[in-house]
Amino acid sequence: MAKLLQIAQAGNRILRQRAEKVENIKHNGELLRLINDMIYTCQDADGVGIAAPQVYVPWRVIVVASKPSARYPQAPQMEPLAMINPVIVVPKPALVDGWEGCLSMPGLRAIVPRHKEIHISFLDLSGTRISGVYQDFVARVIQHEVDHLDGKMFFDCADPRSFTSESEFQRLVRNGGLEEAIAKMAK
Ligand code: NI
Repeated sequence: MAKLLQIAQAGNRILRQRAEKVENIKHNGELLRLINDMIYTCQDADGVGIAAPQVYVPWRVIVVASKPSARYPQAPQMEPLAMINPVIVVPKPALVDGWEGCLSMPGLRAIVPRHKEIHISFLDLSGTRISGVYQDFVARVIQHEVDHLDGKMFFDCADPRSFTSESEFQRLVRNGGLEEAIAKMAK
């Protein structure tokens, strides 16, 4: 049975620390439990991803679980994917602006520049190295979550003029104004 984990809130020191590599992966019951609980906690909160430091565990583990919800109406559907010790490589650096939020900073949205395409290498629960190429929204989620492993928050690299409350963000969703707001920001 998966359980709901408490989510660390912005200002908590765990969110500013560098997380440690996971060494023993195979047959690690604690790690398996953590990942199941992270998936459950992320989905319960309508999140699209979560990093272990957000649930007070200083390990280099993220879960990416994009799906459409009230918080992210345009998110693509995918099976939740756990990435252990993930490493991002950017062969073709090209930044794109997009909206982000964070379960550790509810109520705040901001426009953040991220790489459009990333290559990622990580270990799965059997300790096997997996490589993947991701673009656009899912690439954005992965970059956001890997930042958490290095003690970075999404608003660190956002233009503060883009800071938007959740209610105003939801108004933009209803009015179809999300893209327009990004275009205005770029000027
Ligand atoms: Ni976050």
